[in-house]
Amino acid sequence: MKTIKVAEDFGGIGACTQAFKRTGLPFEIVDYVEINQNAVNSYNAINDTHYEPQDISKWDKDIEIDFLMHGSPLY
Ligand SMILES: C[S@@+](CC[C@H](N)C(=O)[O-])C[C@H]1O[C@@H](n2cnc3c(N)ncnc32)[C@H](O)[C@@H]1O
Repeated sequence: MKTIKVAEDFGGIGACTQAFKRTGLPFEIVDYVEINQNAVNSYNAINDTHYEPQDISKWDKDIEIDFLMHGSPLY
């Protein structure tokens, strides 16, 4: 089966990534966007990644994804 390319926006500590892991489907996170340094640190510790904080309002990458997960704030 094809590896699903997933992006997680407003990723926080990565609940969406954890949920996707539980599907058992083959996937890779191709980008994770979160502005808060502490949340990014937690995400990196949990997932053994090295992301830096990113502001979604400035995000402008040209990447290919199959699936977008996000939990945007209410404000
Ligand atoms: C409702 S929480 C999402 C929680 C996430 N699903 C988790 O598992 O922790 C919204 C998140 O959006 C982040 N956020 C707010 N403004 C942002 C921005 N401009 N760019 C990126 N992330 C932002 C907040 O820091 C917060 O972690």
